[in-house]
Amino acid sequence: MSYELVFEVARGDFDTAGEASRKIKRTLQQLGVSNKVIRKVSIAGYESEMNLAIHSDGGKITLEVGEEELMLTIEDIGPGIANIDLAMTAGWSTAGDEVRQMGFGAGMGLPNMKNNADNFAISSKIGEGTKIIMKFLV
Ligand SMILES: Nc1ncnc2c1ncn2[C@@H]1O[C@H](COP(=O)(O)OP(=O)(O)O)[C@@H](O)[C@H]1O
Ligand SMILES: [Mg+2]
Repeated sequence: MSYELVFEVARGDFDTAGEASRKIKRTLQQLGVSNKVIRKVSIAGYESEMNLAIHSDGGKITLEVGEEELMLTIEDIGPGIANIDLAMTAGWSTAGDEVRQMGFGAGMGLPNMKNNADNFAISSKIGEGTKIIMKFLV
């Protein structure tokens, strides 16, 4: 990998939500990545950021830029996901009322990540945290 960017996201970080995905977008634009790929990475990055803020106790997003692919790694410390199949189901969400009132919690984040990435892998340990790796061909 020729380039790496790391963003920390704290729990409840709604004020700065979207900042990491905006920086990722700007970086990829400067590197001359196609708009089509930038759009996919931005959507996946934004949903990742929101999930760290809403569902985890804090984590980080790492963007690695290579010649042939881009990789997003999202790693958090938190409750983990008990049933990954269920969590991947469109429309399924454990978000509370407060989060929904802010306009989040549609249950589309994980499905959108999977749909936009060329390769998607998720693993989670209850009481420890969650890790997602997404690859995008450039
Ligand atoms: N990093 C995470 N840690 C713990 N649970 C998570 C995490 N990401 C997602 N989840 C669980 O998976 C569900 C679905 O996530 P997602 O598709 O992004 O929808 P939403 O964020 O709108 O709830 C969440 O409601 C939550 O229960
Ligand atoms: Mg989400």
